[in-house]
Amino acid sequence: MTGANKGIGYGVAKHLGMSGWQVILGARDAQRAEKAITQLKSSGVDVLGWVNIELRDLSSLEQAAKEIEERYPELSLLVNNAGIPGDMSVDSQHTELRDIKETLDVNFVGTFALTKALMPLLTKNHGRIVNVTVPSEISPYWHPLAYVASKAAQNALMGVMAIEFQQAGTPLEIFSVHPGPTTTDLNGNMALPGFHDIDTVGRKMAELINDGQSHQGEFIELYPIVKED
Ligand SMILES: NC(=O)c1ccc[n+]([C@@H]2O[C@H](COP(=O)([O-])OP(=O)(O)OC[C@H]3O[C@@H](n4cnc5c(N)ncnc54)[C@H](OP(=O)(O)O)[C@@H]3O)[C@@H](O)[C@H]2O)c1
Repeated sequence: MTGANKGIGYGVAKHLGMSGWQVILGARDAQRAEKAITQLKSSGVDVLGWVNIELRDLSSLEQAAKEIEERYPELSLLVNNAGIPGDMSVDSQHTELRDIKETLDVNFVGTFALTKALMPLLTKNHGRIVNVTVPSEISPYWHPLAYVASKAAQNALMGVMAIEFQQAGTPLEIFSVHPGPTTTDLNGNMALPGFHDIDTVGRKMAELINDGQSHQGEFIELYPIVKED
């Protein structure tokens, strides 16, 4: 579970853990990771440990995957949750190229690199990959370019991999989940009507992951994007 030290990742880790999963946190700061581990353990979650995952540092991701393979050879679920918002305050004309690149680097390139590096182990374990995202279809209510473009690329990655897994008979599943507007640091802890808290979203996402169904190639929306007044 990447980005598991706070926000939606923390909520999903908690509810997956409470439903019986052993959890490995991906985080990039030891103190934040340890704090989350203490909190998760106090909720009864069996946390195996944490791994340093910095999605902007591609060479470190190879290293992280090797570490996971050695320490946690039974890994069967990767939740690609870590992500950044980019600058959501500007329209496309005023979006900085640097912002486009940085947001793509984390939400698409880094997410792809980690997924690619963990694919051999996940395939061996007949595992699953779950991406946390937003719809590719552009909402009239909310459409920050850097963020939406990076997630559309991530959604394309999911669709391509799902078709490849099916066509090649690879024992791997991948699908995407849109949690809907959720009160987290990503949006300045916005709590308008239509927003949900990380516990609500975490519980719903854990239920989905545990439902025993195949979701290969699906885009599943837990809650829709709403007009922010
Ligand atoms: N909140 C929403 O309304 C909403 C709606 C739809 C989809 N999502 C998606 O849900 C996911 C989680 O977002 P959130 O709302 O929970 O945001 P959040 O509270 O800001 O959490 C983001 C997480 O990603 C990690 N992260 C950020 N940059 C990273 C990097 N370069 N390498 C590794 N980890 C990194 C953060 O770690 P640090 O603590 O170290 O910064 C943090 O754990 C994102 O993919 C987001 O796009 C959110």
